[in-house]
Amino acid sequence: MTTHTPPTSPRHIAIIMDGNGRWAQKQHMPRTVGHAKGAAGVKALVQHCTKLGIQCLTLFAFSTENWSRPADEVSILMNLFVQYLEKEMGALAATGVRLKVIGDVAGFAPALQSRIRAAELATQNNQTIILAVAANYGGQWDVVQAVKNWQTANPGADLHSLTQAHLAQHLSTADMPDLDLLIRTGGEQRISNFLLWQAAYAELYFTDVLWPEFGESELNKALHWYATRERRFGKVPQQRKEIA
Ligand code: IPE
Ligand code: IPE
Ligand code: MG
Repeated sequence: MTTHTPPTSPRHIAIIMDGNGRWAQKQHMPRTVGHAKGAAGVKALVQHCTKLGIQCLTLFAFSTENWSRPADEVSILMNLFVQYLEKEMGALAATGVRLKVIGDVAGFAPALQSRIRAAELATQNNQTIILAVAANYGGQWDVVQAVKNWQTANPGADLHSLTQAHLAQHLSTADMPDLDLLIRTGGEQRISNFLLWQAAYAELYFTDVLWPEFGESELNKALHWYATRERRFGKVPQQRKEIA
């Protein structure tokens, strides 16, 4: 059952799920245990967002830069992704989740590409929430692929006719609401090539909590903080505008 969304709730939340490795190291475990624990918590968080009436949740799972990690760690991350698509997506799909994978999917093994396509297809008519998993995603890649796609869609068009609105229609987030809240766990205060274009006016929330420990109550904290923000979009503050 979707609950009422107050106007101060974000429509689109994105999360840089950082801190898996450090979480595992704190428990004297291999980094990959942290990735497994981090992945295991995703389902409950998606369900929580669904209950809150959030329209779209975008999760940064694997960046274009993460290929530079040791091969065994990359391989564990890929396996977790496959397992997720196989085991967890069914349950999520049953609650109305529509899965989208954003990123350069062509960089994945063919078997993973087919699983991604199958999961997207199976959930394409679901309407409760969009779960966008950013995999082999880079914000810079997204802008470049948008320009290329615009050109493909408009063969022969003069590049000078390209506008911001056109480009936005070809970004991987084109059919999602504007990004309202960008959360990064794990203590770093950087974007790490995530949604560069889309974060233009997002509220940025950084927390030291490591991703495997980021649960419903931590998300609620971020939402309460978000509700206190005044989103001015370049305008003057509300009171001053009334006086003027
Ligand atoms: C985030 O956790 C997961 C991915 C980048 C795939 P990290 O693996 O970056 O964890 P830390 O930052 O090393 O603790
Ligand atoms: C960002 O985390 C990527 C993901 C969470 C998937 P990283 O751990 O890769 O970021 P940096 O390297 O610390 O900037
Ligand atoms: Mg990290």
